[in-house]
Amino acid sequence: MMETELKIKNFVFSGITAALTAGALLSGNALAQKDWPTKSINLVVPFAAGGPTDSIARLIAVPMGQALGQTVVVENVPGAGGTIASTKVARAAPDGYTIYIHHMGMATAQALYDKLPYDPMTSFEYVGQVADVPMVLLGKKDLPANNFKELEAYIKANGSKVTMANAGPGAVSQLCGLLFQSRMGVKLTNIPYKGTGPALTDLLGGQVDLLCDQTTQTIPYIKDGRVKAFGTTTMKRLPAIPNVPTLNEQGLKGFEVKVWHGVYTPKGVPQPILDKLNAALKKALNSPDVKKRLEDANIDIVPASKVSAKGLKDHLDTEINVWGPVIRKANIPD
Ligand code: MLT
Repeated sequence: MMETELKIKNFVFSGITAALTAGALLSGNALAQKDWPTKSINLVVPFAAGGPTDSIARLIAVPMGQALGQTVVVENVPGAGGTIASTKVARAAPDGYTIYIHHMGMATAQALYDKLPYDPMTSFEYVGQVADVPMVLLGKKDLPANNFKELEAYIKANGSKVTMANAGPGAVSQLCGLLFQSRMGVKLTNIPYKGTGPALTDLLGGQVDLLCDQTTQTIPYIKDGRVKAFGTTTMKRLPAIPNVPTLNEQGLKGFEVKVWHGVYTPKGVPQPILDKLNAALKKALNSPDVKKRLEDANIDIVPASKVSAKGLKDHLDTEINVWGPVIRKANIPD
């Protein structure tokens, strides 16, 4: 055989091998997507265990796992107001085995941090929205103020001696706390935690004075008087704690923060897997147990149309545009 003929034959042969390998890979990928999930799935939570985001994650993890036929394991990756977890998820393999729950911090982080190693609008896939959680301005039991007026006077008299806990820049507790300080024209001493789980523990222990937290686990503590509630961040009073006035009705007009949540994956997860995740999330949110537990904490499950990729992505886009100017105007971070 002539040398040129041999080269051409080898070229053709290696072309066929490459095509066969690519074909095998493709059908392997298609098969992997069809069979997914064949092992447990990691649900990353950007805050410490025992906090509101962690609680919602654990609540949906069980029914989602049942719907998918595999265990959904919660992994807490706290720090930097959720941005450490967001970075980790943005860089994870897009194989469907890493999923992510985050709240509206996904929308506020861009205005709070100079440079983020991810882009909330392009570094992820969107599974759907989950639930909207109200917040309450809480004080430690021994705080010498029993209502909002007295709190105002106490803060005026004590200024930066008053401490306020939060879960770091990007956390809603920080956003709520700093908006409150901006509206009151005061600067308190802000103390960051890895989540409002540990912050609430310190508020209960009396180590910190104030915390703006979600209702996810605070309602029982408010009801039994272990913490003081000075106002809700909603326009209407909450049915579970009707005696707690809104901040709006106590002079902080328009003070509204409702903490929305979404489920994401890294960018590039194949559509068939995203469809299965979406179906599992919908099923979880329709489970009577989940509904009851959210309802008890006055948490609203979002309408079915929002439990979708489009519902979540559109909402995220809107919220980035809403909060950016608010944060810049309020001069957050301090
Ligand atoms: C948490 O789960 O600890 C909170 O959602 C943190 C926060 O954003 O305040």
